[in-house]
Amino acid sequence: MIQFSHVYKTYAGPIHALSNLDFKVEKGESVFFTGPSGAGKTTLFRLVSGFDRCSSGKVSVAGFDVEKLGENNVSNFRRNIGVVFQDFRLLRDRTVFENVALPLEIKNQKPSFIRQKVNELLDTVSLTFKRDQYPEQLSGGEQQRVAIARALVHQPSVLIADEPTGNLDPNLSMEIMDLLDKVNAQGTTVLVATHDIELVEKRKRRIVQIRNGTIVKDSKNDVISVG
Ligand SMILES: Nc1ncnc2c1ncn2[C@@H]1O[C@H](COP(=O)(O)OP(=O)(O)OP(=O)(O)O)[C@@H](O)[C@H]1O
Ligand SMILES: [Mg+2]
Repeated sequence: MIQFSHVYKTYAGPIHALSNLDFKVEKGESVFFTGPSGAGKTTLFRLVSGFDRCSSGKVSVAGFDVEKLGENNVSNFRRNIGVVFQDFRLLRDRTVFENVALPLEIKNQKPSFIRQKVNELLDTVSLTFKRDQYPEQLSGGEQQRVAIARALVHQPSVLIADEPTGNLDPNLSMEIMDLLDKVNAQGTTVLVATHDIELVEKRKRRIVQIRNGTIVKDSKNDVISVG
């Protein structure tokens, strides 16, 4: 589903944000990327979502070579990738329903389809009862659930969440992680970046630790030596 081959990302300075990153994520996997501030997590996610291009190497996601995306197919590609940010990024002057509906309206989908799809997603994130409220009337955890519903409207094959619990207290963080597990159980490949290693260690999921732009540990490669 996702493959990084010898990927480097260098910013002016030069700052080597990612160095020789090599990993693969299978379809349907759920992976936590952890590491200290500045490790390169957001940079990595920007490459996966096509917001940015690598300096060298190869990034392929959902059958697309990300470096080769032209203007014509970049929007097709982006629809495959749902993105959730730490700060939710909801529109304040739109209700919960309208926030989730917006990407479908932009695509000129039929109102009956939009209604059905949005209601279904609000049910998935357990927010049907808040559908007509505005973001400022919601808790942080509820706002993040709206953002997750919105990221799922195009039925992406990959959901990326960059520090989705960064602004939430531990209970709400747990709720969001449970919701991301539920999304993964429905077949979506899920990538989550977080500082909070305690939050992820309890979940028996693949954990990739990044430091200074390289992978220092990948739980998938942990070998249990026998004898
Ligand atoms: N647009 C940019 N221009 C120059 N340097 C950048 C840019 N974006 C990121 N960097 C640098 O790249 C490195 C990796 O940053 P990145 O944002 O990927 O880290 P992170 O792991 O997401 O950190 P955090 O946990 O604080 O979000 C840092 O040294 C950062 O300063
Ligand atoms: Mg970051």
